Amino acid sequence: MNSDDKIKHLIDLRVKAKLGGGEKRVEAQHRKGKHTARERISMLLDEGSFEEYDMFVTHRSHEFGLENQTYLSDGVVTGHGTIDGRVVYVYSQDFTVFGGSLSETHAQKICKILDQAMKVGAPVIGINDSGGARIQEGVKSLAGYAEIFERNILASGVIPQLSAIFGPCAGGAVYSPALTDFIIMNDKTSYMFVTGPKVTKTVTGEVISTEALGGAQMHATRSGIAHYVSQNEEEGLLFIRKMLSYMPQNNLEDPPATECQDPIDRMDDELNEVIPDNTNEPYDVKDVIFSIIDKGEFLEIHRDYAKNIVVGFAKFNGMPVGIVANQPNQMAGVLDIDASRKAARFVRFCDCFNIPLVTLVDVPGFLPGSAQEFGGIIIHGAKLMFAYGEATVPKITITLRKSYGGAHDVMSSKQLRGDINYAWPTAEIAVMGPRGAVEILEGKKISEIEDLAEAKKFAAKKEEEYRKMFSNPYEAAKYGYIDDVIEPRNTRFRIIRALQTLATKKEINHPRKHTNIPL
Ligand code: HXC
Repeated sequence: MNSDDKIKHLIDLRVKAKLGGGEKRVEAQHRKGKHTARERISMLLDEGSFEEYDMFVTHRSHEFGLENQTYLSDGVVTGHGTIDGRVVYVYSQDFTVFGGSLSETHAQKICKILDQAMKVGAPVIGINDSGGARIQEGVKSLAGYAEIFERNILASGVIPQLSAIFGPCAGGAVYSPALTDFIIMNDKTSYMFVTGPKVTKTVTGEVISTEALGGAQMHATRSGIAHYVSQNEEEGLLFIRKMLSYMPQNNLEDPPATECQDPIDRMDDELNEVIPDNTNEPYDVKDVIFSIIDKGEFLEIHRDYAKNIVVGFAKFNGMPVGIVANQPNQMAGVLDIDASRKAARFVRFCDCFNIPLVTLVDVPGFLPGSAQEFGGIIIHGAKLMFAYGEATVPKITITLRKSYGGAHDVMSSKQLRGDINYAWPTAEIAVMGPRGAVEILEGKKISEIEDLAEAKKFAAKKEEEYRKMFSNPYEAAKYGYIDDVIEPRNTRFRIIRALQTLATKKEINHPRKHTNIPL
């Protein structure tokens, strides 16, 4: 072969590799409304930025006649590229090759980019579309999975790891995405479960569809495994790009600040009116969020799960922050098991990656009831408390209205090392709400009043007394638990100034092997 032939051979090999499992299988993939592994990578990355590794890798299996069935790249496309000019590593499973199943070499390719991403300090994005372990390879495939899991674990909190599920993801394969920071699933074309409908029926007798057992909607609303459901793959990949725009490349860097076009002292008079006169009336905390952040641009995470708490990314004066807010228009914004887990995970992510936390509080307490107690609300509530208490990023807390009982302590209170704690004049910071307090303190007396109308009148009077005494921010401010009571319309400016002041904050927890967060 002369050098021209050699170059032609290289080009031919590249063309062959790009065909994956062949035209027919690519067509089948398209018919399902899915893209190929390489198409997905080009949608995800900046144009022309992808550098592929290991295109010429093939499996080494001889079992079941596999030696006659080899495909260049072996069912996964790996490499690096850029998103908004910043380096990211990516792997994208190719369903057209053995159903994207994971062989020994397929696993090695993923491990290689995880290792490099760790050395370079760059995020990793995994696009999953796979029939699981390559059945013909047996335990080598299982070992391959474990190699990936270990790397996901060691990379946790060092580099952001994001997963897209764009097809099957079943059995032990679910655990790599589960170990990453965020999972997005595409609606209708993806599913995740440890055991599928067939095994479920055999073992338990339960008959359930794939979609109901592990579809994107189920994981976004019930299990909380999916942080976002995309309507199509382009949109899902765009969501990943957006998420990354709030994150640093690794735990040693600050999140990327951008120029801000929104005046920092922009006031919003409507905020002064947002809290209803009746303290039990709901309102939408997202109206407050949209009003105070840069240009109303809020990237909500976990939107359909535990709606009684809202979490997501936003910017103040171009500085990325994580926002956590109780949502009074869903179950009165109460903290329950799901909300505690959702917020705890988010707080810990932000703390890992130096993203300051802004917490908006309007919480009537923890949700009472046997379902919550049997489900372990004690330990789940403790997760959120632990996450806030352990976090060393700048923590700014604004109490909008209710902040009662244990939930007050949990929601980034001063004593959990909240750096700057402001309250609106509408804040009610107390051990519990007036009705509960009067029932406990005056219940016996009330029950002894024979006339029902008189009893009600007495209770109302006592509630009013309690409200006057405790349902305000000034009791807490008196002790310095609240640093200042601020006018709602000025909240944006006060948060920005707090963030600027805290930009050089240094707080180091005591050295130890690791914490023992109540799991
Ligand atoms: C090898 C596989 C494969 C696998 C699919 N294929 N899964 N090859 N190992 N695990 C191949 C098929 O033979 C087929 O090859 C092609 O991929 C497409 O598969 P189809 O069945 O035609 O596609 P579809 O109808 O869309 O069904 C997709 C599927 C199904 C639901 C994923 O293929 C399936 O159930 N596969 C087996 C899933 C499974 O049991 N995996 C092992 C799980 S245990 P051709 O040549 O026809 O194109 C596991 C343990 C991991 O993963 C533990 C980690 C700790």
